[in-house]
Amino acid sequence: MEYTAAVLTISDKGYAGTRVDTSGPALCAILEDEGWQIVHTEILPDEPQMIERALVDCADARGVCLVVTTGGTGFSQRDRTPEATRAVIEREAPGIAEAMRAASMRVTPMGCLSREVSGLRGGTLIVNCPGSEKAARECIGAVLPALRHGVEILRGTTGECGRH
Ligand code: MTE
Repeated sequence: MEYTAAVLTISDKGYAGTRVDTSGPALCAILEDEGWQIVHTEILPDEPQMIERALVDCADARGVCLVVTTGGTGFSQRDRTPEATRAVIEREAPGIAEAMRAASMRVTPMGCLSREVSGLRGGTLIVNCPGSEKAARECIGAVLPALRHGVEILRGTTGECGRH
């Protein structure tokens, strides 16, 4: 089985070209080190409909195993990544977001300010991470060991009890 992944950076400034996106490339490098094949990357503005469309495209048209987003999870009025994610997932996978927030809280009390969501659409696992490179690294690092097994269960390529 190929472990394919897409990384979506969600940032008005990144989209406008007024801020260099370092979080997306950092996430790609971390995932690649873990054996994930990055098949798509994109920078999107904090526009819910564009985010939803990109998530659906990754899941339904591209059929990637994993989509990791970075950005738009905070409290600013334009932060809509969690809402866009909720609009397209069929089932939540709350443990992933909970684990990320728990790990973040051990690093900074600001960790509870990320409203990140994780969930499933068809055979695709979608995981939100915060926007800063540091926060994105810390969050993906907290759940990385579980992602491959999660996708295997989702796609029915392994037993649900870790019999491998
Ligand atoms: N999580 C970790 N691990 N490390 C961090 O530095 N920053 C927090 C939070 N989660 C942080 C973190 C802060 S200050 C905010 S405002 C939100 O993530 C920001 O989410 P956003 O960049 O997606 O809007």
